[in-house]
Amino acid sequence: MRAVPHLMLEPAFDPSASNRDAIGIGNKASAALDVRHGTLLTLEDINVSFDGFKALRDLTLYIGVGELRCIIGPNGAGKTTLMDVITGKTRPDTGRAWFGETLDLTQMSEVEIAQAGIGRKFQKPTVFEALSVFENLELAQKADKSVWASLRAKLSGEQKERIEAVLATIRLRESRHRPAGLLSHGQKQFLEIGMLLVQEPQLLLLDEPVAGMTDAETEFTAELFKSLAGTHSLMVVEHDMGFVGSIADRVSVLHQGHVLAEGSLEEVQANEQVIEVYLGR
Ligand SMILES: Nc1ncnc2c1ncn2[C@@H]1O[C@H](COP(=O)(O)OP(=O)(O)O)[C@@H](O)[C@H]1O
Ligand SMILES: [Mg+2]
Repeated sequence: MRAVPHLMLEPAFDPSASNRDAIGIGNKASAALDVRHGTLLTLEDINVSFDGFKALRDLTLYIGVGELRCIIGPNGAGKTTLMDVITGKTRPDTGRAWFGETLDLTQMSEVEIAQAGIGRKFQKPTVFEALSVFENLELAQKADKSVWASLRAKLSGEQKERIEAVLATIRLRESRHRPAGLLSHGQKQFLEIGMLLVQEPQLLLLDEPVAGMTDAETEFTAELFKSLAGTHSLMVVEHDMGFVGSIADRVSVLHQGHVLAEGSLEEVQANEQVIEVYLGR
């Protein structure tokens, strides 16, 4: 995966205070969301079964405001199912799922959950290849409109500013007019993260974001996530332990649908049960 030259990444951008505000603080979702106890996401005793198979069992997890949480665990541990529950794609059989203090995720549709400020990035990038980088961001910002209605509708100054800020954040300012199909794999991933950011989410869910990326792209992703934390909460599922080690405050280890251990990466890596699960000892 070294074929993509380092030059594909634009130089680091030092966001001004005003840009930073445009990316995070003061967004629509946070204005409406009640997070008075500092917990953005509450999952308690979540159970999900598929034809009698328990994908999640009594899963309890809390994500704080501004926290960057990594979720690790072997294949089949339930990581993707966990994200499906948060985004309303899968309904838990039992358990509580709250966004802030007042939004019951188990009672909301997928669209309502997205509009409340939860953005999800899937493993495979899903950008519109024939449209430019800028147009992709424009479309994402007006996700409620059809493609053509959306491209015809004029952007407000504020919307344009936000797209500009996001272009800088994802280092694609100079590629704004390129068709998204011509971007590298990593750049498509960054564009898709940008497509989430223009929607001003408060919680970002990212499933294996650095899979298939070059070392330089992986490093930039780590920087990007760390810069988004604080003004956003992030839940990152990732197998790349080097990457996890470079970004994580706190790590949750999932095993057979349950949180096996939680703590710093060093702490969970020293946990006997975790070692057993990973090494089969
Ligand atoms: N829609 C589904 N129907 C049946 N089984 C499923 C479904 N989704 C997930 N599973 C099963 O649930 C378990 C957890 O899957 P998943 O959440 O994808 O794990 P992970 O993302 O940690 O690899 C796996 O055993 C998987 O086969
Ligand atoms: Mg998965």
